[in-house]
Amino acid sequence: MANKLNEMMSTFIPLAKPNILEQDIQLVNDVLRSGMLVQGKYVNELETSFTKLCQTAYASAVSNGTATLHLALIALGIGKDDEVIVPAFSYIATANVVELVGATPVFVDIDISTFNIDVLKIEQAITPKTKAIIPVHEFGLACDIEAVMKIAVKHNLAVIEDAACALGALYNGKHVGSFGQFGSFSLHPRKAISSGEGGVLITNNETLDKKIKLLRNHGTEIINGKMDFSEFGYNYRLTDFQAALVYSQMERLQASIDYKNKLAIIYNQQLNTSKMQLPHIPDYTTHTWQTYHVIINETINRNELIVTLREKNIGVNYGAQCMPYMQSFQQKYKLNCEALFPNALRAYKQGLALPIYDLLNKEQVNYIINTINKLVS
Ligand SMILES: Cc1ncc(COP(=O)(O)O)c(C=O)c1O
Repeated sequence: MANKLNEMMSTFIPLAKPNILEQDIQLVNDVLRSGMLVQGKYVNELETSFTKLCQTAYASAVSNGTATLHLALIALGIGKDDEVIVPAFSYIATANVVELVGATPVFVDIDISTFNIDVLKIEQAITPKTKAIIPVHEFGLACDIEAVMKIAVKHNLAVIEDAACALGALYNGKHVGSFGQFGSFSLHPRKAISSGEGGVLITNNETLDKKIKLLRNHGTEIINGKMDFSEFGYNYRLTDFQAALVYSQMERLQASIDYKNKLAIIYNQQLNTSKMQLPHIPDYTTHTWQTYHVIINETINRNELIVTLREKNIGVNYGAQCMPYMQSFQQKYKLNCEALFPNALRAYKQGLALPIYDLLNKEQVNYIINTINKLVS
């Protein structure tokens, strides 16, 4: 027992680890041997499996989950002089894409119990310039998307759901990403399934889908029987070997979510909550546990805790950014985050993401819990 514990303590437990099986690698090999490397059979298969899972009419695979958001904004015609509402707490990509199209991100604080946008604060952020909302389903937990949709319909705003972390998450039984004009997913290695880099954009709108498929490929179209270019576009294509890598992972998605739920139950039951706030799951959703994220009391120095846990071979990190607090946004907008976004700032400064993934075993989870409980008490 002591030997096993020693061995565990000497092996680093990363924050995330994709579960790539031999069968996934085999599919990649098949593509490499075929010579058809970009946007081939597996890109089509991947798109079909997203439409089946999310129950939408269309899906487009692209190079990453930032390109998806960027293309969605362009396809909706959002640009200079427009405002887009985003939660103040997310991965920086959510706000960066708004800047990339020349629009202004308008930040709204989060609910500290779910880490998702505080829907009660959205309406006060709407101005005549507001064109869209990008709600984030943070850490794999659906935000209150029906409440967001009601506000969007009332004010005639588009909704791009940033579901980068939330593949498999349901809101009242319906897949996230299928409520708004667009739903955006990332296939980065920290996500539920991974192609290395990759992203998928889903929609029910045929015109928007056509636009996305043109924009991701330089506006390439067959016009009068020959290849031509009908729009200025991008190279946001996904390679076929990336699509092949992720394709068979789709079949294991639910089993992976179920396993992570089991690990989350152990965390929920055994982490000492005297100085730690554990994740809260509202009735309208189930958690897919892209991240198990806790808030550490201010009496404990979170940054020192991260260093100490890493020294003990536990790969923890902060979960996401208070985006308006980052240098790029501070220089441009100089927003007082303490006053305007106290919850987002708290989640950024006191949040702690713990390892949770298929390849993490229960002994490792117990070691993580025991180590944290000793340090956070
Ligand atoms: C909420 C959110 N949005 C967007 C992205 C961007 O995805 P990608 O890294 O695939 O570009 C991420 C990735 O971490 C994310 O967490």
